[in-house]
Amino acid sequence: MRAAVQDRYSADPEGLLRLAEIPRPQIGPGEVLVRVHAASVDRGTWHLMAGLPYPVRAAGFGLRRPKLANPGRTLAGTVVAVGARVTGLNPGDEVFGIGTATFAEYARARADKLAARPPSLSAEQAATLGISGLTALQSVRKYGRVTAGQKVLVLGASGGVGAFALQLARAAGAEVTGVCTTTKMDLVRGLGADHAVDYTRDDALDGRTRYDVVIDTGGNRRLADLRRALTPAGRLVIVGGETGGRWLGGLDRQLRAPLLSPFVGQWLGSVVTSENADDLRTLAELCESGALRTAVDRTYPLAETAAAIRHLLDGKVRGKVVITV
Ligand SMILES: NC(=O)c1ccc[n+]([C@@H]2O[C@H](COP(=O)([O-])OP(=O)(O)OC[C@H]3O[C@@H](n4cnc5c(N)ncnc54)[C@H](OP(=O)(O)O)[C@@H]3O)[C@@H](O)[C@H]2O)c1
Repeated sequence: MRAAVQDRYSADPEGLLRLAEIPRPQIGPGEVLVRVHAASVDRGTWHLMAGLPYPVRAAGFGLRRPKLANPGRTLAGTVVAVGARVTGLNPGDEVFGIGTATFAEYARARADKLAARPPSLSAEQAATLGISGLTALQSVRKYGRVTAGQKVLVLGASGGVGAFALQLARAAGAEVTGVCTTTKMDLVRGLGADHAVDYTRDDALDGRTRYDVVIDTGGNRRLADLRRALTPAGRLVIVGGETGGRWLGGLDRQLRAPLLSPFVGQWLGSVVTSENADDLRTLAELCESGALRTAVDRTYPLAETAAAIRHLLDGKVRGKVVITV
């Protein structure tokens, strides 16, 4: 099969990811083999590709060189084979969710990390839901506990997680403010934000408006700044932020927030995304009902996987970038 392949870690996709012929993956008893039609790129893609920050390598992805052929983790495609212990999925089923080395014609995936692709979504659209959609759903519901009438601030509302999070908070009945850069204000408004703040001109954390929930997906603002924008009993949901640091890569805020939380009135927490089929099904239902829309910025063919990742690194993406196979 054709697949994007990397033999070492590097922060630069160019000259690293190449198209190669490799054997189709073998599946285990709880896995299925998927003919991939589309896979999406997110910040985690870069972390796996670069092996940065270093704890990524210790998390089982390969200490010296990557164990997996490529860093793709999301997919939408057709089931072609199922493992001996798999129930509820059959060859021919159209699915989406999380897989392994998904920038390839075929990828293996755990059956409990897949859901049926809703009829109204193309493979390209469904491929965006995997990591980013799950993270947004859990940020809004499980961590943020967003309810109707609350004021919610989404930092990084034009990004992969943020574009979903702002819509999900709106669907929960909240009044949502999305923060992004100048050129993406129209996207954020178009996705339904009640208010959009351009972070190059205004500071949404200046304390003039207090929010019940702040969902932080970009900007790496200090905990003190984030807390200033929260109501006294508000909830801070840290998803992440890029610092380029090789050891912690911005994780220090995520580590400090839950340590500080018991000592203050506000709830300060960090998201660890749970990859599960139930939440994928919830995302599919929300898309079917029209409450959630996908934002596919651009698609790239498999041979141009490196260019797709570069597009994300350059900060040009509005929503999600998708690889078509
Ligand atoms: N904890 C977890 O389990 C988990 C899961 C998924 C992702 N993450 C992390 O969460 C972060 C977001 O992921 P993603 O895939 O959504 O990335 P993304 O698509 O690159 O989105 C990040 C957004 O941050 C925005 N941003 C940059 N500087 C900003 C600033 N000063 N103020 C406000 N927003 C700013 C960018 O908006 P503009 O383009 O408008 O500047 C961009 O759209 C990453 O660090 C990722 O590693 C963590």
